[in-house]
Amino acid sequence: MESLPSQNRNPLPNASLWPLTTSVDHGGRLIIGGCDVAALAQQYGTPLYLFDEVTIRTACRACRTAFAARHRGTTAVHYAGKALLNVAIAQIIADEGLGLDVVSGGELYVALRAGFPPQRIHMHGNAKTRAELEQALAAGIGQIIVDNLDELDMLRRLTANRSSPQPVALRIAPDIAADTHAHIQTGHATSKFGLPLDALDAAAEKLRTASGIRLTGLHAHLGSQLFDIAPYAAAIEVLLDSATRLRDRFGVLIEEINAGGGIGVPYTADQPLPDIDAWAALLGDTLVRGCERRGLPLMRLVIEPGRSIMARAGIALYTIVATKMLPHMRFLHIDGGMGDNIRPALYGARYTAALAERMRDPVEECVAIAGRYCESGDVLIRDLMLPRARVGEILAVPVAGAYTLSMASTYNLAPRPAVVLVNGGEARLIQRRETYEDLIVRDVG
Ligand code: LLP
Repeated sequence: MESLPSQNRNPLPNASLWPLTTSVDHGGRLIIGGCDVAALAQQYGTPLYLFDEVTIRTACRACRTAFAARHRGTTAVHYAGKALLNVAIAQIIADEGLGLDVVSGGELYVALRAGFPPQRIHMHGNAKTRAELEQALAAGIGQIIVDNLDELDMLRRLTANRSSPQPVALRIAPDIAADTHAHIQTGHATSKFGLPLDALDAAAEKLRTASGIRLTGLHAHLGSQLFDIAPYAAAIEVLLDSATRLRDRFGVLIEEINAGGGIGVPYTADQPLPDIDAWAALLGDTLVRGCERRGLPLMRLVIEPGRSIMARAGIALYTIVATKMLPHMRFLHIDGGMGDNIRPALYGARYTAALAERMRDPVEECVAIAGRYCESGDVLIRDLMLPRARVGEILAVPVAGAYTLSMASTYNLAPRPAVVLVNGGEARLIQRRETYEDLIVRDVG
């Protein structure tokens, strides 16, 4: 071993990309949550998604603790369920005391079936249907985050006869372009999301005559996978200016500022870990000082992280089923790809990977990881250094917990993967693999 380059001696290269409980045993096998990862792949089949319960719970606690410590007022952390939601995950999030953001009737349904307390659920969406709003109102969810004036009109009609008003927040498009992939920017003026600043007065006018609605908060979400936190402070200033305007012109007192989610996580070794404490300090300080400066009462601070709670907790496992040799590189063909992880095809997202049974072997070749789907764009990783990999080996892709399964499809009618939760040496199937029968249950005729 002594003669190997240092990166090959590290038992767990890029440790910050793997779940917190990850280790490598003496035989070079990947261990997560006390479980042998490749053995789980054999047992449950591949593609398989593995989630480390400790990593999820630790991320929840770190976020709640940081915000509670760094803001003088009350705080709430709402997990953005669009990153990943199923019954078991909803129960862990509820158990950790977080709130939950849903963006559809489907996410709301899963949350309620999981027993998530409705009061701790917020509903987002730029195109909520009447049926979805009715579903949210009937469930008694804690807050509806109104995205546009038409939604406000609809909500006003649906709540006309309510005895206790439904709390709502207004999502504002703050006209701040955060530095991230264009597909996941949301705070710029031309975004489809949020109320333009010049529509604030019109919203306030509508709210004047909406006895079934109570405006409690203002919201902005700048985008996702953000490494520069400075724009969050700018967004809070915009929201506080809006709160001031609502107070001065309409006599409305805003109680809560919601700064959205979006904090970035590393997918490859060159990206930094999120500094949740710095994020909390910036948001807390900006809010306290901003309220004081404007003579506004101290407000509650809400945030909505998705990726930073779930991404690192999940790994994807694939079997290498074939290879293709080219003059300067080799394709490794795996049994999953864009059907379970569309992110490389959609955003050019970069990932790394390792062989789950040979974590200590020296890297020998540069390969591309080709998905199984009938699209040339279905290449999960374009330049991966690996030991010389063989057909039948298990490939583990870290940081696969967020926006993978939640965006999965059955393209090519390939069934979606099973999901297993690991903790303390035990593995629990939390979502079974889709079957061929599942693929035709909706077909009529
Ligand atoms: N709040 C709102 C209103 C959002 O729209 C989102 C994400 C979040 C919170 C959570 O953001 P996070 O902390 O997860 O960055 N599919 C893309 C990401 C789309 C994010 C959509 N909104 C991806 O795979 O990168």
